Amino acid sequence: MPVYPACPASALQENSGIHVVCDGKEIALFKMEGRYFACSNRCPHAGARLSEGFLSGTVVTCPWHGWSFDMNPGETPPRDGVLRYEVIEENGELKVVLPG
Ligand code: FES
Repeated sequence: MPVYPACPASALQENSGIHVVCDGKEIALFKMEGRYFACSNRCPHAGARLSEGFLSGTVVTCPWHGWSFDMNPGETPPRDGVLRYEVIEENGELKVVLPG
């Protein structure tokens, strides 16, 4: 699957999220519990930017109406409408793996 550069790892503090664009797609990048997570930056309810959501543990809560999404859901992919992507940290840079 194609890997796209996103941003320096230093751009994300613990328990924060940012908005990046990879291959024309709007992506939310988070650092939570010492790990990096990425997902589509559009809430499936009404389109709010999840990168501006409230973070607790590995859960992102939408800033508009409070739907919440666990970025670390375990083995079973959740059916919550949020596409999650793998993040690779390499030489201080974050890269996002998008479906080909
Ligand atoms: S837009 Fe996210 S919960 Fe409504």
